[in-house]
Amino acid sequence: MCGIVGYVGNLKAAPIILDGLKRLEYRGYDSAGVAIMADGEFNVAKQIGRVAGLQKTVAQKPIEGTRGIGHTRWATHGGVTRENSHPHLSNNGRIAIIHNGVIENYATIKKLLESKDFTFVSETDTEVLCNLISYHFDKEPETDEAGSRLLASVRRSLMHVQGTYGICVLSLDAPDELIAARQGSPLILGVGPEELVIASDVAALVSRTQNVVYLKDGELVRIKGTTFQISTMDEAGVSPVIDQVTWTVEDADMGDYEHYMLKEIFEQPAALENAMRGRFSADNSTAKFGGLNLTANELRGMGRFMFCACGTALHAGMVTEHLIERFARVPVECDHASEFRYRNTPLFTNTLFFVISQSGETIDTLAAMREAQRKGFKVLAINNVVGSSVAREADGGIYQHVGPEIGVASTKAFTSQLLIGAMLALYIGRMRDMSVRDGTEYVTALKGVPDLVRETLKTADHIKGIAERYSRFNDMLFLGRLELFPIALEGALKLKEISYIHAEAYPAAEIKHGPIALIDPECPSVFLVPQNELFNKVISSMQEIKARGGPIIAITTSDAELPEGLADEVIVIPACHEAILPIIATIPMQLFSYYVAVTRGCDVDKPRNLAKSVTVE
Ligand code: G6P
Repeated sequence: MCGIVGYVGNLKAAPIILDGLKRLEYRGYDSAGVAIMADGEFNVAKQIGRVAGLQKTVAQKPIEGTRGIGHTRWATHGGVTRENSHPHLSNNGRIAIIHNGVIENYATIKKLLESKDFTFVSETDTEVLCNLISYHFDKEPETDEAGSRLLASVRRSLMHVQGTYGICVLSLDAPDELIAARQGSPLILGVGPEELVIASDVAALVSRTQNVVYLKDGELVRIKGTTFQISTMDEAGVSPVIDQVTWTVEDADMGDYEHYMLKEIFEQPAALENAMRGRFSADNSTAKFGGLNLTANELRGMGRFMFCACGTALHAGMVTEHLIERFARVPVECDHASEFRYRNTPLFTNTLFFVISQSGETIDTLAAMREAQRKGFKVLAINNVVGSSVAREADGGIYQHVGPEIGVASTKAFTSQLLIGAMLALYIGRMRDMSVRDGTEYVTALKGVPDLVRETLKTADHIKGIAERYSRFNDMLFLGRLELFPIALEGALKLKEISYIHAEAYPAAEIKHGPIALIDPECPSVFLVPQNELFNKVISSMQEIKARGGPIIAITTSDAELPEGLADEVIVIPACHEAILPIIATIPMQLFSYYVAVTRGCDVDKPRNLAKSVTVE
């Protein structure tokens, strides 16, 4: 949450920072602000609302200066007000800060500072940290160089802080310098030929440089002119490792689409192709992964798998649970990362632990991973963002390779997680009892996914029509069974996230245990009803809804024959292998929620109250 950008170079800082913030808006969009240092003062512009608004303001009244910091906020401490917007200045106006994270003990620090006559204009934890740095700065020996004093005072302040932070700090006393530090919130340094850019996400950097240094927790970077030095909280020097980002700025652009979400939905055939590339055995009977860091023997010896994730990624874990149990016959457990981290759940010794995270920065997922590692378990990560915290801390893993996902509602990242889950089930299954013949059939099915997704996307206009008719409802149920129950959950989540319609999901047979009480002509149900062994059972559930006057949208496979007149709307998806059905069935769910949200006039890419990357607890 919150996007942060710092710039030091020879060009005008404000437009570069604002462009970076625009690209980070999916991290938060309650308010935005910049502080640019010029002629011995900070020029601060900040306002409630989107970065575009701030860009307009700054365009009318340009801000000079070649170093500065900027922030797009997802409110934690304090409401959405101009005062609470970042950057924050110290009482003496000489230090400016931007912060992503939460300072948990800010109230205690604030009291201490108030006793020393500091005053506060905002309700934020960040302003407290800013004044703490200012307090320590003034206590550093004046004989020391201002840059060293600034670094020392940041370090000293952070020692008092509990919580998470990614910060950038400027001081008028050290006009050539910028100090940044991270603990639990991502920070990446972009190293250009004559400029340094620091941001919470590569998306803000790729328009400037492809060369980046991923800072680690507990590290500080001191930028001086266009040079930088990294050190730890214990003052030990760190040799920087410069990585190359493979994304380009075009990957993160919207192209001709109206929304990122729509672009990302339609990108799925190519994205899924990328996620599979080079990951099948030469004889096409199983999958292979380069980064598991486990021998076949070690993997074979695992008696259990555990998946932890949040939100959409958790739904991918639930489908994977089903597929591994079904095709590899190994028990699997799946848990909310936010619960697992505190549950102290007993784990079997030979359990292989997986986390799934598009961003690789979700704090609960990171914490779950660290908890499992602390208990001595190896943790593998299914992750999209190369170099993310999850990727770096995991013991191995599988990258999704679907390029940047900008829309807050996850689409291509989710289907690629489903694809990787299906490949994992194949890989583990073939190590156990799955035959060459079944494996080959499975691989053929996986390879056919991009074409089937392409075909399913052709239903977009039909689904748009349905969405327009159903967008007036305020409650909906999503019902599916077996591997499609998590897809029902995902369908309900998508609808909630972007159209603010109340939606719930259940295994279809569960409706009679409560949810059926909701059914009336004002509560439609979306049924996932493929031709499979439970087809007739799902039809019975649909009949129960129909008998009570509930409208029905059925998503069914091309080989199924629904009883005449049972569903009010029918969406047909291609019949396919069970392992890939969840991917194909997801497509109409995405399109439905997208078109409902558009019809209701919602801001699809930036739904209210949400952020794409949840880096606070
Ligand atoms: C947020 C996003 C969701 C996402 C979840 C997990 O809640 O709004 O779309 O599924 O975080 O994100 P991750 O990056 O860990 O997959």
